[in-house]
Amino acid sequence: MNIENNVVVVTDTVRYAEQDGVAVILLDNAPVNGLGNTVRQGIAECLTRATDSANVRAVVITGKGKVFCGGADIRQFNTPAATEAPMLRHVIRAIELSEKPVIAAIHGVALGGGLELALGCHYRVTTADASLGLPEVNLGLVPGGGGTQRLPRLVGIRAAIEFAQSGKPVRGEEAVALGLTDALIEGDVMAAGMKFARSVADRGGPHPVIGQKPPADVDGIDFGAVAAAVNPKARNGRAQRAAISCMEASTRLPLEVGLDYERFLFDELVAGPESKALRHMFFAEREALKVEGLAAGTSVRSIRSVGILGAGTMGAGIAMAFANAGISVTMFEKDQPALDGGLKLIRQNYEITASKGTLSPDDVKKRLDKIATTLDMGKLADADLVIEAVFEDMAVKQSVFRQLDDICKPDAILATNTSRLNIDEIAASTRRPESVIGLHFFSPANVMKLLEVVRGKRTSDQVIASCIKMAQVIGKTPVLVGVCEGFVGNRMLTGYWREAGFLLEEGASPQQVDGAMTRFGFAMGPLAMADLAGLDINWATRKRLAATRPAHLRYSRFADRICELGRFGQKTGAGYYRYEPGSRTPIPDSVADELIVQCAKEAGIARRTISDEEIVERCVLALVNEGARILQEGIAQRASDIDVVYVNGYGFPAWRGGPMFYAETSGIDAVLQKIRTLHEVHGEHWTPAPLLVQLVEQGRTRFQAA
Ligand code: NAI
Repeated sequence: MNIENNVVVVTDTVRYAEQDGVAVILLDNAPVNGLGNTVRQGIAECLTRATDSANVRAVVITGKGKVFCGGADIRQFNTPAATEAPMLRHVIRAIELSEKPVIAAIHGVALGGGLELALGCHYRVTTADASLGLPEVNLGLVPGGGGTQRLPRLVGIRAAIEFAQSGKPVRGEEAVALGLTDALIEGDVMAAGMKFARSVADRGGPHPVIGQKPPADVDGIDFGAVAAAVNPKARNGRAQRAAISCMEASTRLPLEVGLDYERFLFDELVAGPESKALRHMFFAEREALKVEGLAAGTSVRSIRSVGILGAGTMGAGIAMAFANAGISVTMFEKDQPALDGGLKLIRQNYEITASKGTLSPDDVKKRLDKIATTLDMGKLADADLVIEAVFEDMAVKQSVFRQLDDICKPDAILATNTSRLNIDEIAASTRRPESVIGLHFFSPANVMKLLEVVRGKRTSDQVIASCIKMAQVIGKTPVLVGVCEGFVGNRMLTGYWREAGFLLEEGASPQQVDGAMTRFGFAMGPLAMADLAGLDINWATRKRLAATRPAHLRYSRFADRICELGRFGQKTGAGYYRYEPGSRTPIPDSVADELIVQCAKEAGIARRTISDEEIVERCVLALVNEGARILQEGIAQRASDIDVVYVNGYGFPAWRGGPMFYAETSGIDAVLQKIRTLHEVHGEHWTPAPLLVQLVEQGRTRFQAA
């Protein structure tokens, strides 16, 4: 519907028009009609106009473009504009007090403050495909515009808690079923909203005001138990508990007091370190999608069919990742038993998911139908993308790529899932190095979000852009990285594991190292993680790199010695820990503990008491120091990309924002000081990264490539 000709007030982000007895308040603040200061001012001003206008019987609030309103303008968080009057709360209050009915006509999204604005309206109408939600917890916050106070009054306390605690949006029909929305609308949103507005104006008042209702469904609810059930490992546990506390407040406090309480908790959270870190991650993941220096107008190749070489752990997981997104996959193996093994793994995985009720048998079938298998590599001739996940051996990979070069169509993208090998050497075995790229998935590949997209020296812009896009299509978080031993994630792991091993020799036990790191917030400690990944893999890497290791540098023999015993971690039932059959729970093991003591003795190390603080400092600063080198070498485009890698692929606590953000919040100068001290005590391994030294000399507080 076009109101352009009737617009009587135009602020920079809100427009106003009157037509046939209905006033329209149109939010016009691209990209998501965020509730910045001028939007709030505009709505308040338009509302006064509508109230004062004798022609107006009802008011419609709607959004220009693709959405109703995406919520607070998070660009303004922690800036003076965020607290400029009127606050959202007061705008919403003014809406509730309007005698003329106000209707939110919702399409696209009504998220966070957007939904809170709609909850202030007397009626809500929604398109079927609109998303309505309170995602604030994902940023470590509670809703700050009355969401926790009005929602329980509208949909009942239990549904409201689930809604705000999960942060997950619902679609139009579910919104109607919940009682969140009054009606579904079709066609032009503004026209449908205005039609609905006329009908309620005709019907006459009084019109429902959510804030005046008591919360529903409160009998027998045990808020303490609900709060205690919050997953202690959740990245946003504090915000979830705060949201529950606000809901509890809504059941016993008058609206205005409940709103004060909600705002108090919001202010506390927004100024706190967890929310800052989670907001950093939010922006970091979006920033990671941008490729610096990409030629303007680079087109993207669409990927409809994927070939996968190797049906092992990774090949099977990668096949599932594509099948889950509805993309056809053909898996190739060197022999039938290996192919059967891969397919069996996939079936088992889907069966487990189905048994949990998260996937219907029909969906399982649909996904399995997307996966074809073959022993004939020729069947990959038409694939848009081929991903190699065979053994981690350069000769094997080069041979496979030579064959692919002969077989695949000219515009196919040829990718390798190698964890550490040189992409350029692999690309050199083909006549089309510009089409070769690394796609480093993480195990289990159907679950883990991170995808390191490894750009070779000759990889074309189009291939890079296509892979970044493809990653999003299959629900991954891509990060572009450059070629080096281990790329970003595994390269940083080398120093991290080195320090963990040294700490063992110096006096810590595996469970003490892992305990300190999980208390810091890691999903898993370094040694339990090594047991999970398989100790033989690192052993093979150490052997491959032995010739390049400077002889004078300290080297712990313990990791090799434990492998020499045939202890490769979980898969052999023992590694740094031992495991009961079928269990993944690490149990301290005297065999490993005694070997540690023996290795320390042989190395002439007098064991001492090690504090948790030292463990965290050495492991985390090893990550930071290497991260700074990676940044300086241009292997990562930006520091925040390294954070995205560590949070999404390595279990670094999201609420600390990743290793580089953690270093920034601790103070880069303080970090350098600690690294210098470690350098004095422990020697060359701790040579400070030149970038760190430069940044401190320049007085900078944030990482940026030199
Ligand atoms: P895996 O040993 O489970 O699977 C490798 C599969 O490749 C086997 O089924 C084998 O039969 C098959 N294969 C070997 N040569 C072949 C050939 N010429 N043609 C066709 N198939 C062949 O190994 P995994 O763990 O799946 O690793 C595969 C690749 O993924 C390696 O490069 C590894 O470094 C990388 N990777 C592994 C991760 C992990 O956590 N396991 C994580 C990320 C990458």
